[in-house]
Amino acid sequence: MAGDDTKKSTLRSQAWFGRQDKMGFYYRSFLKNRGIPQDQFEGRPVIGICNTWSELNPCNSHFRTIAEHVRYGVLEAGGFPLEFPVSSLGEVTMRPTAMLYRNLAAMDVEEGIRAHPLDGVVLLMGCDKTTPALLMGAASADLPAIGVSGGPQLRGVYQGKMIGSGTNIISMSEQLRAGEITLKEFHEAEAGMNRSHGSCMTMGTASSMASMVEALGIGLPTNAAIPAVDARRNELARMAGRRIVQMVAEDLTPTKILTRAAFENAIRTLAAIGGSTNAVVHLIAIARRIGVDLTLDDFDRLGRGVHCQVNLMPSGEYLMEDFYYAGGLPVVLRDLAEQGLLHKDALTVNGRTIWENVQDAQCWNRAVITTPEAPFKPDAGIAILRGNLAPDGAVIKPSAASPHLMQHTGRAVVFESIEHLHHAVDDDSLDIDADCIMVLQNCGPRGYPGMAEVGNMPLPQKLLKQGVRDMVRISDARMSGTAYGTVVLHVAPEAAAGGPLALVRNGDLITLDVKAGTLHLHVEEAELAARRAAWTPPAPPMDRGYTRLYVEHVLQADQGADFDFLVGKSGSPVPRDNH
Ligand code: FES
Repeated sequence: MAGDDTKKSTLRSQAWFGRQDKMGFYYRSFLKNRGIPQDQFEGRPVIGICNTWSELNPCNSHFRTIAEHVRYGVLEAGGFPLEFPVSSLGEVTMRPTAMLYRNLAAMDVEEGIRAHPLDGVVLLMGCDKTTPALLMGAASADLPAIGVSGGPQLRGVYQGKMIGSGTNIISMSEQLRAGEITLKEFHEAEAGMNRSHGSCMTMGTASSMASMVEALGIGLPTNAAIPAVDARRNELARMAGRRIVQMVAEDLTPTKILTRAAFENAIRTLAAIGGSTNAVVHLIAIARRIGVDLTLDDFDRLGRGVHCQVNLMPSGEYLMEDFYYAGGLPVVLRDLAEQGLLHKDALTVNGRTIWENVQDAQCWNRAVITTPEAPFKPDAGIAILRGNLAPDGAVIKPSAASPHLMQHTGRAVVFESIEHLHHAVDDDSLDIDADCIMVLQNCGPRGYPGMAEVGNMPLPQKLLKQGVRDMVRISDARMSGTAYGTVVLHVAPEAAAGGPLALVRNGDLITLDVKAGTLHLHVEEAELAARRAAWTPPAPPMDRGYTRLYVEHVLQADQGADFDFLVGKSGSPVPRDNH
C-alpha cells in the first residue's frame, strides 16, 4: 500500500482528483456525470486520448474506432482513459493549405495536454499535418506520450491497375490536360483511388511521417504501414493504450525518446524509404521543440550515401499495403542498422531499444523492400542545396527527380505568384521550352501563408503535348509527398522575406547541381543589389486574426516553419486553480 500511495502522490492528475476539498469535489463531481465510479479517481494514471477525428478530415475518419481500442488497452492496464478532441487538419479539404494551421493545432495539443488532469497521452494522427502538429505539441508539453498512426488506405485500383494517392492524381490530371484520357475515366478513377479508410497509401507525407513516428521510437514497431482497415491496426492501438499506462509509471517522457540519436535515425530512415520533403520541415520543427538543434546540414550529412530501399510510389511501383506485407519499416530499420547507419541503442516507447525491436525483422518480398546491396535507388537521401539563390538552403528529392536534369543550366521563366502561374502557364505565347527553369516566387511560409504544396508547378500544356514530362522547377513552396519531378523546394530565405529568389527575372540563367549541392543564379552582385533596392515586400494577405499572427511569427523553412515563440518546451507543470 505504501508503494501505491507513493505512486498516487507522484501522479500529476492527483493535483486535481486527489484533493478532498471544494476543488476536489468540482474536479471529480463533473466527471461523474458519465457514471465514472469513485475508484477511477484514486491513483489511476489518467490517459488522454488526443483524437484528430473529423468528418472534414477523411483520412482520419476511422479514428473513433481506433480511440475505442486505445481505451480498451488503457482500461486493461489499470488506467483511466479520457478522450479529447484537438484540431484536425484535412490535407485535401482545407484551404489555402493545412500547413497554415499546423502550428495552431500544435498549440491546441500542447495547451490541451497541459491544462487538463493528464498523466500521459496517446496521440492519434494520420493525415499529413496532424502527425507533426501532435508531436510538436506533445514534445513541448513533455508528458509521457505514444503516437498511434491511423494507417494507410488499401491500394487504389482502377481498370485492373494499382493507382496511388496523389501520384496518379497528378499524372492523370496531366493526361486529362493533354487530352489522353476522358473526363469520364478521370471521374471513375476517383472512386477507385480512395476505397477504404486511411491516409494516402503512397510514400507521401502521411506515410513518411508515420514512418518517422516509428523510426523516432515514439510509436510502437509496425506503426508505419499496417493498413487502416487491417485488424492489426486496432490491435496496435490497444497495445499502445496498455503501454502508455506503464510509461507513466516509468516517467518515460518524450525528452527520453526524442533524442538527437532518434532524429538521426529518422533522417536516415527518411532517405531509405524515399520519404517526403515535407518531413524535413516537420522533423526540424519537432526537434527544436524538444531542444535538439536539428539543421538542414544534418540532413545533408546523414542522408548522403543512404540508398532508397523501398520501391513505393511516387518514385516506384508499389503501395503501403505491399510495404506492410513485405515486412514494413522494421526491415528497413534492421537493414540500416546492419550497415552501421542506425543508432541501435536509441530508446523507444515500448522500453526497448530500436535494435531490440527490429533485429529479428524478416523481409517477405524483396521486390518491394530491396536490399541495400541492390537498392531501388542508390544515394537517395534528400539533398540540400545552397548558393546565392538559397543562402539558407533549399531541398530536392533526388529519388523523385529526372537523372538528366540533376545537373542543369537553364533560362529562368518567372512567375510572381501562384495566380500568375495559373494564368500564364498554358498561354501559348509563354516564352518557354523544355530546357527552361520555372521559378515561382512568393509561396513560402510568409508569402503564401502556410507555404503551400505548389512547388511542383504544372508544366505548360504546349510542352506536355510535345511529350515533355519534367522540367527543373524552383520555388520557396513545398511539394506534396506524393508528387515527383526535378523540383527544388523550400528556398530560404523565401521571396516574401526578401530572399534572393525575389530578385530572379525572366531570362536569368540558373544552374542546379544536385551532386555538388549548389543552386546558383548567374547575375552580377551589383545588378542583384540594384534589384534588391527596388524590391518591396508583398502586402500581407490578411491584416487580422490568426493569419496575421502566422505571418508575423513564422520562421523560415530551414527552421521548421514553427512560430518563433513556440520553439522549445515548458513541460506540464500543474496550472493554477480556476476557482
Ligand atoms: Fe490525408 Fe493524404 S490527404 S493523408
